[in-house]
Amino acid sequence: MPVLETLRRVKRLRLFEPSVSVVGFFLVSAFVICSFFYLDYKEVAGRFGFSGQSQRVTWWQQKRGSVEERVHRVEFLGENGGGCDLFEGNWVWDETYPLYESKDCSFLDEGFQCSENGRPDLFYTKWRWQPKACNLPRFNATMMLEKLRNKRLVFAGDSIGRNQWESLLCMLSSGVLHKDSIYEVNGSPITKHKGFLVFRFKDYNCTVEYYRAPFLVLQSRPPPRTNGQIRTTLKLDQMDWYSLKWRDADVLVLNTGHWWNYEKTIRGGCYFQEGIEVKLEMKVEEAYKRSIETVLNWIQNSVNAKTQVFFRTYAPVHFRGGDWRNGGSCHLETLPELGSSLVPDDNWSQFKIANSVLLAHTNTSEVLKLKILNVTQMTAQRKDGHSSIYYLGPNAGPTPFHRQDCSHWCLPGVPDTWNELLYALFLKHEPSHRQN
Ligand SMILES: *[C@@H]1O[C@H](CO)[C@@H](O)[C@H](O)[C@H]1NC(C)=O
Ligand SMILES: *[C@@H]1O[C@H](CO)[C@@H](O)[C@H](O)[C@H]1NC(C)=O
Ligand SMILES: *[C@@H]1O[C@H](CO)[C@@H](O)[C@H](O)[C@H]1NC(C)=O
Ligand SMILES: *[C@@H]1O[C@H](CO)[C@@H](O)[C@H](O)[C@H]1NC(C)=O
Ligand SMILES: *[C@@H]1O[C@H](CO)[C@@H](O)[C@H](O)[C@H]1NC(C)=O
Repeated sequence: MPVLETLRRVKRLRLFEPSVSVVGFFLVSAFVICSFFYLDYKEVAGRFGFSGQSQRVTWWQQKRGSVEERVHRVEFLGENGGGCDLFEGNWVWDETYPLYESKDCSFLDEGFQCSENGRPDLFYTKWRWQPKACNLPRFNATMMLEKLRNKRLVFAGDSIGRNQWESLLCMLSSGVLHKDSIYEVNGSPITKHKGFLVFRFKDYNCTVEYYRAPFLVLQSRPPPRTNGQIRTTLKLDQMDWYSLKWRDADVLVLNTGHWWNYEKTIRGGCYFQEGIEVKLEMKVEEAYKRSIETVLNWIQNSVNAKTQVFFRTYAPVHFRGGDWRNGGSCHLETLPELGSSLVPDDNWSQFKIANSVLLAHTNTSEVLKLKILNVTQMTAQRKDGHSSIYYLGPNAGPTPFHRQDCSHWCLPGVPDTWNELLYALFLKHEPSHRQN
């Protein structure tokens, strides 16, 4: 037992000096507290003879459940559900979640399979999003696949977009009996990659695709005869080349944000360009703003009129005390921040920039075909959902504590909720469908 071992060591120090004993006591207490968070709650429950969740969570559940029962809400897909703001609401404990098990889904990157990588708690898979003014339909994979028959659903964006795409692959495949009827059209495996992956659901003749495009606009070589410090440029007025493949999708889900910072651009010799001019002085914030304007213009002018376009807003990160390079952490978080929506160590700048551009445009008739998946606020509360130290496969050895992933999300987990919202909005748009 490591606790006994620690106690023995503390004893060996012969606690004559008060300062040493104080430090010793502190260390032991910290260790016991940490161990508590690490213990597999199921194992603990089994050993002590009470089943299910910790008392803490039962208490939450009862409190929130009793509040829930008094409220009567319309169904979002029903006649009167249309005006409901899906993004205003609460996370509520729900024993019927998650919607799938990661061991049953072969479309998951190692980095998102937290349970397989040793994450002991499962609380983070049990929260359902409850909008304040209406009820969401329960996700039905068969229904969604029926609606996607002969269609293409495309995700384009950064690796958080890939996180959401893999979540949807798992959610949809849970409704398919013969898993080998789902395959990547070029036989490519799911791994970190450049380019794109296209999964086909053979029985429904539909594809669910992901295009890696962290900036959405074009990143390529600088114009000839430029300064040697410029290695690449982001063409702020030009979409990524692959956008030719996105624009006639039936459903298109875009996101961008996490790469619009100094580290991932200028520091690596990537500057901003408009027309043929490289703007050495341009700030990342300004470049980000202009790129979103380009994306909105492209939706307006080049995307097929039948396409349902969604823009998913920034998903906040939760590094406590630093970032991914210098020891920022989130591995002790096992519960959401239910009372508040404030995100520690994140000043919302990426959200504010994109939000202001989107708001300015959604007021005009032009971007009517664009819907916002406004997940920022709800996601900010989910500091418990990240891969943290559980992003390396079981055979990779121990994960360094100072290199945590507090940007990506465990699956099943938070991105499933973004997809439930996508599902609800997608069905609402289908004229043939009126439920309840
Ligand atoms: C899901 O949708 C299918 C097709 O519309 C329907 O037949 C089935 O009953 C639904 N399942 C549930 C659990 O509602
Ligand atoms: C499959 O879907 C495509 C559109 O994505 C359509 O052109 C094609 O005709 C469909 N094939 C069948 C056999 O229905
Ligand atoms: C907050 O945002 C500004 C840019 O708006 C940036 O310069 C600053 O470093 C950010 N601070 C933190 C703590 O991220
Ligand atoms: C939105 O449009 C309405 C009328 O068209 C106008 O009164 C309002 O000020 C606009 N809001 C913004 C934020 O532009
Ligand atoms: C998204 O929601 C937040 C608050 O929940 C709001 O401040 C923001 O304006 C919304 N953004 C868009 C583009 O609708």
